[in-house]
Amino acid sequence: MIATVPVELTDAALASDVLDGLALVEDGLRAAARSEHEVLAQASTHLMEAGGKRLRPMLVLLAAQFGDPQDPRVVQAAIALELTHLATLYHDDVMDEADVRRGSVSANSRWGNSVAILTGDFLFSRASEILADLGAEAIRIQAQTFGRLVTGQISETVGCQPGEDPLDHYLGVVTEKTASLFATSGHFGAMFSGASADVIARVTPACRALGVAFQLADDILDVASESEQSGKTPGTDLREGVRTLPMLYALRTAGPADARLVELLSMPDLSDPKRHAEALGLLRAHPAMDIARADTRQWAEAARTEILGLPDVPARAAFEALCEFVVERTG
Ligand code: IPE
Ligand code: IPE
Ligand code: MG
Ligand code: MG
Repeated sequence: MIATVPVELTDAALASDVLDGLALVEDGLRAAARSEHEVLAQASTHLMEAGGKRLRPMLVLLAAQFGDPQDPRVVQAAIALELTHLATLYHDDVMDEADVRRGSVSANSRWGNSVAILTGDFLFSRASEILADLGAEAIRIQAQTFGRLVTGQISETVGCQPGEDPLDHYLGVVTEKTASLFATSGHFGAMFSGASADVIARVTPACRALGVAFQLADDILDVASESEQSGKTPGTDLREGVRTLPMLYALRTAGPADARLVELLSMPDLSDPKRHAEALGLLRAHPAMDIARADTRQWAEAARTEILGLPDVPARAAFEALCEFVVERTG
C-alpha cells in the first residue's frame, strides 16, 4: 500500500522528501512484521495492510524538514513510532471490543484477544529494537511517551473519579493516550534531523495540540460518521461506556428536553442495540456536537499558532494544512 498523504504538498522538494520517506517507512514496517511464526507474521501484517493514514510518520518527516531531512535516523524514528501506534491499536481494539479497524476485521475479532495482545507486544518489541540503534535518549523518550499513553488508557478505563471535573479528566486522557505520541513524533523528527533546540521546543507542543484536536475530532466522528467513512463501528464509545466530549457537553448543558438522553447516558450498559441506536440518534442531533466541534477547532488553532513561530520553510505550510485536515476530516 502507498500511504495516502492527507495534505497537498505543493512544494516539489518537500513532496519528494515526504513521499520517499513514507515509502521507506512502508518497507520498514513490512520488515518489522516478519516472523518465522506464521500466525504472528499474518496478524502483524494484517493492520498495516488494511490501511491507515500514517499520520505519525508524516509528522516525523515534516518536523525533520527543519533540520537535515536526509538523516537516516529520521525514517527509523518514523517506523518505530508507527509500530508503537499500530501496537496500541491491537491492544485498544481488545479493550474496546472493536470488531472493525481500518475498514477490516480487527485482529481480536479474527484471531481472538490473546493473539491480538501478543501481536501488539511483538510490534512493541520491534519498535524497541529499532530505537536501540538510535540511542539511549530515543529509548528514554519513547518509554516515557508509552508510559503516558498507557496512563491515559487506564484513566479512561477506570473513569472519572469523585471530586474530579469530568472535562478535566477527559482532556487529561486525550492528552496522554493520543497527544503524547503526536508530540513525540514532532520531537523525534526535529531531534534526529539535527534541528535547533528552538525548533524542538515549538514543534513538540504544536504536535501535542494537534494530537488533542485529532482525538477530539475522532470522538466526534465516533458519534457522527458511518463505518464506510471511518473504517470503525460508530457509537463504540457509547457502547463501551466511555464518556467523550459530545456526551460530557450534552450532560453539562442538558435541559428538560434532554431527559431521555441523560437517562440513556446514565445507564450502566448501552450494549442493547435498540437503546444504543436511540442514544446515538439523540446525541447526533444534539447541540453538544457543535460545542465539541468548536473546542476541536480551538485546539487546532492553538497548534497553528505554535507552528507559525517556526521558520518559514515549505513544511510549515504543510503543518498548517494538517491542522485544517484534522478539523475537517470525515474519516
Ligand atoms: C486511531 O488513530 C487512534 C486514535 C488516536 C484516535 P488514527 O486515526 O491515526 O489511525 P490510523 O493509523 O489512521 O488507522
Ligand atoms: C485510541 O483511542 C487511543 C490509542 C490507541 C492509544 P480510541 O479508542 O478512542 O480510538 P479508536 O476510535 O478506537 O481509533
Ligand atoms: Mg478504540
Ligand atoms: Mg479506546
